[in-house]
Amino acid sequence: MEGFWAKSDKISQIAKRSDNKVIKHINMLTLFDDIEAPEREEIRQLRKELTEHNYRYYVLSSPVISDVEFDRKMRRLQDLEARYPDMFDPKSPTQQVGSDLSPKQSGKWEQVAHRYPMLSLANTYSREEVADWLRKLPEGVEIVCELKFDGLSISLWYEHGTLTKAVTRGDGQKGDNVVENIKTIPSIPWHIEGEDVPERFEMRGEVLLPWANFERLNQERANQEEALFANPRNAASGTLKLQDTREVARRGLDAYLYYMLGEDLPAKTHFDRLQTARRWGFQTSEHIRVCRTLDEVMAYIAYWDSARKDLPIATDGIVLKVNDLAQQEELGFTAKTPRWAIAYKFPAEKQKTLLREITYQVGRTGVVTPVANLEPVHLSGTIVQRATLHNEDFIRSLHIRPGDMVFVEKGGEIIPKITGKAEEDSPTAADYDYHFPTQCPECGATLVRVEGEAAWRCPNEQGCPPQIKGKMIHFVSRRAMNIEGLGEETIDLLFAQGLLHNIADIYALTFNDLASQERFGEKSAQNILNGIANSLLVPWERVLFALGIRMVGETTAKKLARRFTSLEQLQVADREQLIAVEDVGEQIADNIIAYFADERNREIIHRLQDAGLQMQGKEVEVVSQALAGQSIVISGTFTQHSRDEYKAMIEAHGGKNVSSVSKKTSFILAGENMGPEKLKKAEALGIPLMTEEEFLEITTDH
Ligand code: IVH
Repeated sequence: MEGFWAKSDKISQIAKRSDNKVIKHINMLTLFDDIEAPEREEIRQLRKELTEHNYRYYVLSSPVISDVEFDRKMRRLQDLEARYPDMFDPKSPTQQVGSDLSPKQSGKWEQVAHRYPMLSLANTYSREEVADWLRKLPEGVEIVCELKFDGLSISLWYEHGTLTKAVTRGDGQKGDNVVENIKTIPSIPWHIEGEDVPERFEMRGEVLLPWANFERLNQERANQEEALFANPRNAASGTLKLQDTREVARRGLDAYLYYMLGEDLPAKTHFDRLQTARRWGFQTSEHIRVCRTLDEVMAYIAYWDSARKDLPIATDGIVLKVNDLAQQEELGFTAKTPRWAIAYKFPAEKQKTLLREITYQVGRTGVVTPVANLEPVHLSGTIVQRATLHNEDFIRSLHIRPGDMVFVEKGGEIIPKITGKAEEDSPTAADYDYHFPTQCPECGATLVRVEGEAAWRCPNEQGCPPQIKGKMIHFVSRRAMNIEGLGEETIDLLFAQGLLHNIADIYALTFNDLASQERFGEKSAQNILNGIANSLLVPWERVLFALGIRMVGETTAKKLARRFTSLEQLQVADREQLIAVEDVGEQIADNIIAYFADERNREIIHRLQDAGLQMQGKEVEVVSQALAGQSIVISGTFTQHSRDEYKAMIEAHGGKNVSSVSKKTSFILAGENMGPEKLKKAEALGIPLMTEEEFLEITTDH
């Protein structure tokens, strides 16, 4: 958080500093300096450097030089530009104030036709087929062996040494230009220099999320109640398509480059070409080997089959390429793949182990999931002792029960799977009689199995601990009431102490309840209370989503809230009226009716209403007059609340939210990457910028 605020302050500092009237004045006095001076090159160099530093600072939040150093360079550039007015450039960082680097916000990617189609490789899982492929190649051919990185392919376009586009595979013919996101990868150079750098070329490779970053991301997502990524590849591909460049940078993608394309490229072999790429500054794998015999190739495969488990990144095979580029050309391509390369894919690793016990986990929605507890076994670099068994039907189809030996596998997915029973090592199956439990292991309620569903469910929504906690965690989550500071752990703690029984209890929490907790200081207690107070401004549609009515997700809640603009209206809606709403089918309609029919839910809602939650659309209750008479523009992206929430807060405190900057604007609530036009106008009119934090300070005291 601190970095962010430091940055917002920096925006205003630089905004002030960028007033270049003074500079223009100096220009006139120094017009007669030496025109050919080496300073001209320095100006170009500094502009390039500062543009990069700005980007790293504003967009990536990861500056690589200190503020002092940055300011020194900026001042030097200002001085030099003042001395060489003929080099004036509106794109210079002295004129741009870091604002030319705002991330993509449009929501759409530019589609780009590949200059060379992006092909894939012929695949095999069989070493025998690899050997056959090798035998068919010309005598004495050299083979480059490489790791097959498990990410997604990207084509980096360089023109005159500058990275201009980064295009995803797409459909092989055209892809998305995600260059802004690609620029967040520290190992990808933005500019390269060298005498042998061609005017225009492409570097292709794999974008991936290293294991450590993948695990951290999934942990965060688990804490936030968000769906987990199944593997680093999915995580990398989800990340690359994000519109929020800062979030992309935060997640920490990486890339390995393995293929150069273009005309008049250096080197005669693939290996030398990759060495050249490395010399230019590209990250290529250090594990590339040139092999000359079948045995060498097989030894490489055998070695990496096991050694890859210790790599910090995911790999799923080995790629073999003919080294000589003239030979590559002779061999050519089929319609889909090059004939000069083949991918050997590692089989999913499989182990046999004892199924000790089946335990049952009750999820937040009451679904009971069977879990296999295994005799610990080594699998793809980790020790596996638990695996999901999905549901009753899955267990029956495998014919397994505690005491059996089973096969456990880990493929591309992070969660291990039980794939079968080792018949010869298991007790006889003739009298197979497995039964799913009939009572909930958490609360003892009788489980129900809805027709047509494979899952058994605990129906005791209001009395089953994981379900109660689940409802609360959903309620406070970012997309629902967004109550900062109140996460899963805190809810667990307060639930265990009997301070929270349901979502309405959140609004009864006192400063003492929180401050008396061992792990809280007074500050975090106050933060939670502020978060709770701010949640009173969350609009009706999100309150409705937050209630956690089964199958009423974010979009459905929005549509319902638009049709039923208050809780009163929704509560009395009948089945037909509900079904008339887009996306609401019979099942959802019945769930809504059942929800309001339950006396306990009505009681909770009543208490939430008393606490002051928004149970109707549009009209906002005025909380204070702290912003009375002020016209406020919101610009940029925010970390603590959404724009809608800030809009609501402005109105709730008597202010007016306006969309464009004019001389009547009182101040700008400026987030990350504020629009460059707005910033320019604000500077010109002398309108102050207020950070998110300053704004919250003003509004939460009231
Ligand atoms: S070469 C024309 N080398 O695997 C051939 N690909 O299944 C260009 N991959 O599309 C690809 N590591 O996304 C090559 N060392 C490597 C690779 C690699 C991973 C990916 C790549 C490719 C896919 C084919």
